[in-house]
Amino acid sequence: MSESPPVVGKIADKDSARSAELAAGRDKPREGRVAERDVERQLYLVIGGTGDLMRRKLLPALFRLLAKGPGRDRVGVLAAARNPSLNDESYRAWAREALVAAGIAPDDPDLAWCDMFLHYQSLGKETPEDFARLARRVGELEQQHALPGNRVFNVAVPPLALPTVVNGLAEAGLHRGPGWARIVVEKPFGSDLESARALNDLLHQHFDEARIYRIDHYLGKETVQNLLVFRFVNAIFESLWNRDRISSVQITVAEKVGIDARGSFFDQVGTLRDMVQNHLTQLLALTAMEMPVALDRDNIRDEKVKVLRAVDEITPADVIFGQYAAGEIDGQPVKGYREEAEAPDSETETFAALRLHLNNWRWWGVPFYLCTGKRLPKRVTQIVVTFRCPVLQCLPPFVCNIQCNQLIIAIEPREGFDLCFQVKVPGQEIRMEGQRLSFRYADAFGPLRDAYETLLLDVMEGDPTFFVRADEVDASWRIYDTLLKARPPVLRYPAGTWGPPEVVGLMEGEDWHAESEESRGRRCDRR
Ligand code: BG6
Repeated sequence: MSESPPVVGKIADKDSARSAELAAGRDKPREGRVAERDVERQLYLVIGGTGDLMRRKLLPALFRLLAKGPGRDRVGVLAAARNPSLNDESYRAWAREALVAAGIAPDDPDLAWCDMFLHYQSLGKETPEDFARLARRVGELEQQHALPGNRVFNVAVPPLALPTVVNGLAEAGLHRGPGWARIVVEKPFGSDLESARALNDLLHQHFDEARIYRIDHYLGKETVQNLLVFRFVNAIFESLWNRDRISSVQITVAEKVGIDARGSFFDQVGTLRDMVQNHLTQLLALTAMEMPVALDRDNIRDEKVKVLRAVDEITPADVIFGQYAAGEIDGQPVKGYREEAEAPDSETETFAALRLHLNNWRWWGVPFYLCTGKRLPKRVTQIVVTFRCPVLQCLPPFVCNIQCNQLIIAIEPREGFDLCFQVKVPGQEIRMEGQRLSFRYADAFGPLRDAYETLLLDVMEGDPTFFVRADEVDASWRIYDTLLKARPPVLRYPAGTWGPPEVVGLMEGEDWHAESEESRGRRCDRR
C-alpha cells in the first residue's frame, strides 16, 4: 500500500500544474495564463481605473494574464474613474504608457490588447446617474464581447470612498447581472474594529461573503503561499514547530523606502494599520496555525482565525512606535517623515515593533516579534524561527559561544530559506563556525510572478483561499484595538538606522534580525 497521503485542494492543483511545467522545461513566469486555466467569460471592472494601484499593479497584472494567449477574449476590462475628460482612446494611451513603465517592451505586439479589450467609462461625480450610465456601458460591452453577464468589481479607491462606490454599484443593480458578481476590496479594510465591522455589514447587504475578495497582496506572494507547503508537507519540521523546540519567532518587514507621494494618505493611517494589522498579521497566522483538515479555502482560513483569536492582549510594554527623522540611506541624505509628509507636528508612526503572545498549547510562552518600518537601512522581509539552544554545553564557553539554530524564511529579497547550524572547523583545536543550508527560489525556478497576478487570476477563477475572510478581518483588528485607542509614544529614529534603539530591550536581548543578516553572516560564515 502506498504511504503517500492523498493531496487535496488548491495546493494540489497548483503543485501538479507546476510539476507539469517544470517537466516541460519552462522556468519563466507563465504568461497568458487565462488560456491555461478555467476562467469563465467575464467583465473585469476596475473602479479607480486611473489610480496609482491600477497603474503600478492591476494593469500590468491584467495585461500579463490576459493579453498573451488565446484566452484573452474571455475577459473584457472596463476601467472607471472620476476623470470626465478621458475616453477609450486617451485611456488606452495612458494604459500603454503605464505598461511600458511597468517593464513591458514598447514594441510588444500584445499591447494591441489595449485597443481590443480595454475600455474606459467616466464616473463623474459618482451620482446615481453616473452609476446608471456605468451600468448601461457594462451591458453594451457584454454584448460587444459576447460575455454572459459575469462581473468582477475591483474597487481600488481610498477607504473613505468605498461606501459610495459599493452603494452606487448596488443601486444601479450592477451586482445583479445575468451571471455571477464578485467584489474585490483593497486594504486597509477599515481603520479599526468598528469601521471594519461597518464595512463588512455594508458589503454583506449586497454580496454574499463567498463573493467578497479582500486583498492582502502578501497572500499572493509565492513565498508566503509556500509557508503552507513548507510547514505541512515537509514532516521534519512539524515535530519541532512548538514551544518545546522554538524559543522565539521574528517576523520582519524592513523597507528602505519612505512614504513617497503618499503623505496625506499615510499620515491618516500609520504603520500599524498600513502594515501590521494586515501583512505582518497574515504572516503570523500562517506561521503559527495548526494544520488544516484540508488545504482548501475554508479550512485554511478557519485555522488562521483560531491563531488570531489566541493572541493575548497587547500591553504598552510590548510595543514600540517610531518615526523617522532626517538621515542617510545608501550614503544619500533623505528627509525626515514630517517634512516628507508635510505634516510638521505629525505623531504618525512609520515604525512598529511588537511582542505578541499566543494563548494556546503549541505556542504558550514563545514570543512572536513583529517588526516593520520605513527608511530602514535594508529591504528585508523574513521570518526567523529561533530554536532552543542545547540545554547543556559540552564545550567550555571560551571555545565559542554556541549560537542556537535558526530557520530563516526569506520572503524578499533572495526568496527561499536558510537553516543555520554550527560545524567544527577542521583542525586540531575544537573551534566552531556557523554554516547554512540554503534554498533560493530564483536558482530552482527562475523569477517569481507578481503577487497581484496570482490574486487577480484567483478572482477570475473564483478561488478566495488567499483572500481575507470577514471573521479574519474582525479577529485581526481585535488584536490591535486597544493599541489604537491608547497609542504608545512615538520615538524618533534617524532614517537609515534600524529604528529606535529601545527595540533591543523589547526583544529581550535577541538580535534585531533585519540587521543581522550581516551579523548572522559573520557568525555563520566566519572563515
Ligand atoms: C503596502 C503598503 O500594502 O505594502 C506600503 O501600503 C508598503 O506602505 C507595501 O510599502 C510593501 O509591500 P511589498 O510587497 O513591497 O513588501
